Amino acid sequence: MEIRRVCAVYWSATGNTEKTVTAAAGRAAAVLDVPCEIIDFTLPEAQRRQYGFAASDLVFFGMPTYAGKIPNKVLPVVQSCFSGAGTPTAAVVTFGNRSYDNALAELRRELTTRGFHVISGAAFVGEHAFIDALACGRPDKFDLSRAAEFGLKTAEKARENDPSAAVIPGDPDAAYYVPKGIDGQNTNFLKAKPFTDSERCIHCGLCARVCPMGAIDPENVLETPGLCIKCHACVRRCPQGAKQFNDPAFLSHKAMLEATFTAPAADECYF
Ligand SMILES: Cc1cc2nc3c(=O)[nH]c(=O)nc-3n(C[C@H](O)[C@H](O)[C@H](O)COP(=O)(O)O)c2cc1C
Ligand code: SF4
Ligand code: SF4
Repeated sequence: MEIRRVCAVYWSATGNTEKTVTAAAGRAAAVLDVPCEIIDFTLPEAQRRQYGFAASDLVFFGMPTYAGKIPNKVLPVVQSCFSGAGTPTAAVVTFGNRSYDNALAELRRELTTRGFHVISGAAFVGEHAFIDALACGRPDKFDLSRAAEFGLKTAEKARENDPSAAVIPGDPDAAYYVPKGIDGQNTNFLKAKPFTDSERCIHCGLCARVCPMGAIDPENVLETPGLCIKCHACVRRCPQGAKQFNDPAFLSHKAMLEATFTAPAADECYF
């Protein structure tokens, strides 16, 4: 099948998946000499549309790993907004240096169910959304170069008459990773929400605009009445450093991760 368009499709709260997927898709588009379209479905307004893809498209579809799978509150968006027509597709996940566990297998299964033909898969390391010390600064130039190489190989595979489905490890039905505290015991911070330092906040409203869940009240950013998925977009983007999480269970989990998963993890690609 002749590829006529490459699409970089991603959900990316803190930017790692965006950088990785656009690097891969950009190289694929250059190799195939076709346009590259960006579809960023991170924010709620982008999730009200339907996105259909043709067999002549090559899609790079990226999501982060949350608790060893793809974010459970974003999964319904993948299931309801996207459809392929035998569309050759690269499934891409990013992860914050612990493990991508079963996220890539789950993404492959969901895309396949929606009519995408997954011909390659990759798990790339990115700075942990809530721990600066884990994979600090990644994806770095080496990761992005590997992402571009992955894009090149995926483009070459898509050009084949009948590209085979990618062999991807993991179990899409596996349970979510259960967070542990610094004492090694299971912990739970599902109800945690960001705290706002009212002395620092200048009420610019950016945190409310970048929240993928639309959880922060734009009229009063000190309040987060909606569902928070701990993505840290508001924390990372606040120009005043006014947002933070101070839930003790969450901080204990952070401390455990920071103490345990410091060795740099590797990017992995599958064809
Ligand atoms: C709620 C939450 C759960 C996470 N769970 C994992 C995990 O299980 N394994 C891991 O290695 N990284 C985990 N991370 C880190 C993210 O996968 C990583 O930072 C990712 O690159 C973020 O993608 P983004 O910048 O595109 O939003 C988690 C991050 C968040 C916010
Ligand atoms: S981004 Fe920061 S400074 Fe701006 S409204 Fe939100 S908390 Fe306040
Ligand atoms: S309020 Fe929660 S869901 Fe919204 S940006 Fe902040 S961490 Fe993410």
